[in-house]
Amino acid sequence: MKIAIIGSGHIGAGLGRAWAKRGHAVVFGARDPANAELVALCAAIGATAAPVASAVRDAAVVALAVPAPALAEVVAAAGDLAGAIVIDCTNAVERGMALTYGHTTSAAEELQRRIPRARVVKSFNAQGAGNLADPIYAGVAATNFYCGDDADAKAIVHGLIEDVGFEPVDAGPLASARLLEPLMIVWVTAAQALGTRDLAFKLLRR
Ligand SMILES: NC(=O)c1ccc[n+]([C@@H]2O[C@H](COP(=O)([O-])OP(=O)(O)OC[C@H]3O[C@@H](n4cnc5c(N)ncnc54)[C@H](OP(=O)(O)O)[C@@H]3O)[C@@H](O)[C@H]2O)c1
Repeated sequence: MKIAIIGSGHIGAGLGRAWAKRGHAVVFGARDPANAELVALCAAIGATAAPVASAVRDAAVVALAVPAPALAEVVAAAGDLAGAIVIDCTNAVERGMALTYGHTTSAAEELQRRIPRARVVKSFNAQGAGNLADPIYAGVAATNFYCGDDADAKAIVHGLIEDVGFEPVDAGPLASARLLEPLMIVWVTAAQALGTRDLAFKLLRR
């Protein structure tokens, strides 16, 4: 599957490594596709890099792994992404870890409003980037929640979460992003309290 990942930092590179390893055609959308670090990453994992507008062309999936304030610029460059599955990995937080959108809407819903013809799924926002390289804890796969309004898009994202090595858990409609976005604050707070970024959520079932 052709996957465009916008942003090649902690999250974008982590997803790119995992998905390229599973045989997906990964293209990074970047402001500077010739950036030496990005070129080296692409060479190491068998990916390519391009300006945002060409990276998203014909991509079945577009993962947004940029700082939340950059989304407006990215959407302007990417166009309306009609039909594409857009995975929103961003966390819109202000200084002091305050949520930009609170609980009456969410970054993901606001993004969906900007690109109504795309199919936005929230995922990969509530774990540290280090978990993307190794989401297995004592033999158990960490949970990665996702939510969205399009069943077909969610099924594809479910598989992409498995491709990274997580246990995917469907958290319902896109409005559930109001709950998944604050979950990152729980993760950060726990990481600070426990003094480690080697931690992840797990939904227990029986
Ligand atoms: N780090 C984590 O543990 C973590 C966990 C969950 C979710 N998140 C969320 O994931 C997102 C990315 O976080 P990160 O830690 O990966 O950030 P990061 O390491 O700072 O990387 C950000 C990437 O976005 C690119 N970028 C910035 N503005 C851009 C623009 N206007 N157009 C195109 N590309 C642009 C940067 O490229 P340049 O080289 O051009 O600056 C860089 O490749 C954030 O929303 C963050 O809240 C992070």
